[in-house]
Amino acid sequence: MGLSGLTGKSAVVAGGATGIGAATARRLGTEGCCVVVGDLDSTGAKQTADSIVEAGGIAAAFGFDLADPESVGQLFESAIERFGAVDLLFNVGADMRALRGDSDILDIELDTWDRIMTVNLRGYLLTMRAAIPHMLARGGGAIVNTSSAAAFQGEPRRPAYAATKAALGALTRHVASGWGKNGIRCNAVAPGFTATEAIRSAPQWPDLEAGALKRMRSPRVGESGDVAAMVAFLMSDDGAWVNGQVINVDGGTILR
Ligand SMILES: NC(=O)c1ccc[n+]([C@@H]2O[C@H](COP(=O)([O-])OP(=O)(O)OC[C@H]3O[C@@H](n4cnc5c(N)ncnc54)[C@H](O)[C@@H]3O)[C@@H](O)[C@H]2O)c1
Repeated sequence: MGLSGLTGKSAVVAGGATGIGAATARRLGTEGCCVVVGDLDSTGAKQTADSIVEAGGIAAAFGFDLADPESVGQLFESAIERFGAVDLLFNVGADMRALRGDSDILDIELDTWDRIMTVNLRGYLLTMRAAIPHMLARGGGAIVNTSSAAAFQGEPRRPAYAATKAALGALTRHVASGWGKNGIRCNAVAPGFTATEAIRSAPQWPDLEAGALKRMRSPRVGESGDVAAMVAFLMSDDGAWVNGQVINVDGGTILR
């Protein structure tokens, strides 16, 4: 038996072309959701949606840009046109390319700082702002945001990334507090090192894996499906009593 209460729900995955977002979109597809896969990478979004449909699920793909308020609005209009509702939102997109310049606070270019804030943080504000009225119209809904172990662990690099991921905790608690009584739950997952296809194919993969294993208590690194499982649970009725939390999904990297 799968998770309860997901069949027939309309789910928007904002950043579902690759990695954790793609795995979660596929998981929601197998749980019976109608999945809207949105991403800046519209080709990748279509591949994810196609894989859901090939597996017997229901999905549609749309290109959109977390940095552009109009484009975010369009994504939700398309979702409503296609499936008539928005019940669930998984915010997972992040500008991973900009991270190359996310060095330290003495050195980082302000354009890089602004870009990371705009996509990773303001983008989630925009998607939630677009989704909540539709959820209210349905009498409730569930949102999951993607934080990171980087929000907690204190790293000498990636200050903008870590700041956006920590700020998402505050935004998550704000939404849970603001609309919890209206039946909207808002939680976040904070993945640790997760071996997406992109990370596995990096030339430094063996070193990355060895370093990650040292930092965690579990005997293996995480897979995208490990995070997808937690997101699906949080969105399902099995997670009905969980609200306003940031859940570490990281093989015991961060203990708190
Ligand atoms: N993989 C890890 O080890 C790890 C660890 C902790 C947190 N995370 C978080 O998980 C999420 C997914 O990461 P991933 O590793 O699967 O990476 P990924 O690069 O595969 O996924 C990010 C997705 O966001 C999309 N995106 C980028 N800019 C966008 C924009 N402006 N508008 C819309 N979409 C945009 C990308 O095209 C991509 O599909 C991110 O939020 C990341 O910070 C990942």
